[in-house]
Amino acid sequence: MRGGCCARGEREGNPESSWTHDASGRSSCRTKNSLSTFGVALSDAALALETGGLMTAEHRPVLLEEAVGFLAPRPGGTYVDGTIGLGGHAERILELTEGRVRLFGIDRDEAALERARERLSRFGDAVTLARADFADLDRVLEGRVVDGILLDLGVSSLQLDDPSRGFSFRFDAPLDMRMSRTQSRTAADVLRESTEEQLEEIFRTCGEEPRARRIARGIGRTRGKGLETTRALAEFVERLVGRSGRIHPATRVFQALRIAVNGELESLKRFLGRFDKYLGSGGRAAIVSFHSLEDRLVKRAFQAGAREGRFRALTRKPVRPSREEATGNPRSRSAKLRAVEKA
Ligand SMILES: C[S@@+](CC[C@H](N)C(=O)[O-])C[C@H]1O[C@@H](n2cnc3c(N)ncnc32)[C@H](O)[C@@H]1O
Repeated sequence: MRGGCCARGEREGNPESSWTHDASGRSSCRTKNSLSTFGVALSDAALALETGGLMTAEHRPVLLEEAVGFLAPRPGGTYVDGTIGLGGHAERILELTEGRVRLFGIDRDEAALERARERLSRFGDAVTLARADFADLDRVLEGRVVDGILLDLGVSSLQLDDPSRGFSFRFDAPLDMRMSRTQSRTAADVLRESTEEQLEEIFRTCGEEPRARRIARGIGRTRGKGLETTRALAEFVERLVGRSGRIHPATRVFQALRIAVNGELESLKRFLGRFDKYLGSGGRAAIVSFHSLEDRLVKRAFQAGAREGRFRALTRKPVRPSREEATGNPRSRSAKLRAVEKA
């Protein structure tokens, strides 16, 4: 087993994505954010873990008008929401076009698809939902080209707020963190099966955790024994590094494990390597990311496409949430939106 941010073992028909090594993200995680304790950015899940008020609120789509605005949906078009979640962005696409589009809604999470199905039921046949990884669009689109693709990366409040999913240490639950129950490896498995070096890399690259080595050594010595629940892990990390300030010391460890368990960066890389083939001429892609590793991958792929004349950039700089949105929805604070149009 190799380490890195992209550790994933699952049965979703994705042979490329199991336990791969993500060298590119290694030392590239440091950004500043006024919400952080250590001067590094906290992503959506990290903030969500720490922001009590957010947890009970219904998931609010981030950069909703901006992201859907870049897709400029029009009646008769075909669109993909590759991270449909609770269906907020998809609903807006359907509303703006009065349901006169074909919308493919994808998620790895069966529970999210169920919620999206209910929310979008009034649009009937316009919506096709599929449980899949957005990196595997071939399987869903079966050769079709589309007018727009939206990704709103990361986790939803549905996942963070369900104690049984084991994403958050606000509840005591088995340390799971799988977006889909079909995945074979849980966060507890990752702790048990990884070497200290692998854990260190996961915490450093996926979690932007300055004390990655210390925490990895401590966990490595236990071989994951006694760390099978969210609270056990959170308390272990707290005992190891102490607590100072507002942010719980296990916050970044939890973020890192989630990204690793779900191979989030690997999926994004695979998508970015091939998404232009799904877009027709003039078709658009808009991606909302929540931490610097994701945003860097998106930025580089979009810039490379523009240099090669395959795309036209629609955002020179990433679009950020307004002050109003950031105040009303803490999860949005680290969001960055980038968009391109196919030449
Ligand atoms: C931030 S939520 C999306 C929220 C949605 N835009 C809304 O308005 O309700 C992200 C969703 O993407 C899903 N997801 C994350 N990575 C994925 C992947 N590689 N393939 C498919 N779905 C993914 C998660 O399960 C989650 O439901």
